[in-house]
Amino acid sequence: MKSENRDAKLQTRHLSLVARHCNPGYREAIEAVRFLKKGWAAQPRVGIVLGSGLGEVVRKLRGARTVSYRHVPHFPKPTVAGHAGTVHLGFWGELPVAMLEGRVHLYEGYAPAAVVFPTRVLALAGIEVLVVTCAAGGISPRATPGSIMLLSDHLNLQGANPLAGAHDSRWGPRFVDMIEAYDPELRRQARRAAARLRLKCFAGIYAALAGPTYETPAEIRALRRLGADAVGMSTVLEVIAARQLGVRVLAMATITNRAAGLSRRPLSHGEVLEVGKRAGRDLARLLDALIRHLSEGRP
Ligand code: HPA
Repeated sequence: MKSENRDAKLQTRHLSLVARHCNPGYREAIEAVRFLKKGWAAQPRVGIVLGSGLGEVVRKLRGARTVSYRHVPHFPKPTVAGHAGTVHLGFWGELPVAMLEGRVHLYEGYAPAAVVFPTRVLALAGIEVLVVTCAAGGISPRATPGSIMLLSDHLNLQGANPLAGAHDSRWGPRFVDMIEAYDPELRRQARRAAARLRLKCFAGIYAALAGPTYETPAEIRALRRLGADAVGMSTVLEVIAARQLGVRVLAMATITNRAAGLSRRPLSHGEVLEVGKRAGRDLARLLDALIRHLSEGRP
């Protein structure tokens, strides 16, 4: 009887460890924040999530402390080419910035709570603004390869939401307003900076699907009818988590290809990375102009 009790206890403990590993929560986020702050005293004001092939942007940081996701407690480990899995803490101009190079996705088998965990950690570390970047397939005629789309809204078609499940009020309200999830003022500033730099940039609606297959031509036709300007497999869960914590969001997609059925070429991850790399240079310039603007204290 005694040993049965002990087995049952061990099993409960094991299950709760597995659940926490798969669904890291508030306690785990505090541990991760403590770990990151140990080596870097400054409080980050802006957080940046870098999507596929956008690693170029990292070079802008001065005095960066770089840590692999492997070493940050409870951080998920990216499994996709082009997603390094590194946190960079440093200064962009005068502004303390925390950068997430690489993200994990639902299609890697991660739970929504794991997908948004690094974003939540940055929010708890004190960022006021989150800049999320990603690669996307272009649907509207303006969304040509190499252009940059500033997200003005999204369609969450991923079938998942990081706020679903038991509600922990330490993250914020359960029912989060999403009307201006993408901060209009930050978007205006980004548009102005892009115009000054003569970059091809427009505002549009991002449809997020779970992936990992690219879409079928029929799905793209349906998304076009739903009002989507571009399509991708990320971003929206992170935006939802940030908005719950009251962080202002700017999201930018580099258009790496015309979406399925809109050009003759088959879609390939290699092409996404290659065009993403080139577009990443433009994105780095745009971010630079924007961050300098923010560091001058103009919100
Ligand atoms: N579809 C989905 N995600 C993407 C695409 C696409 O065409 N291009 C880059 N990320």
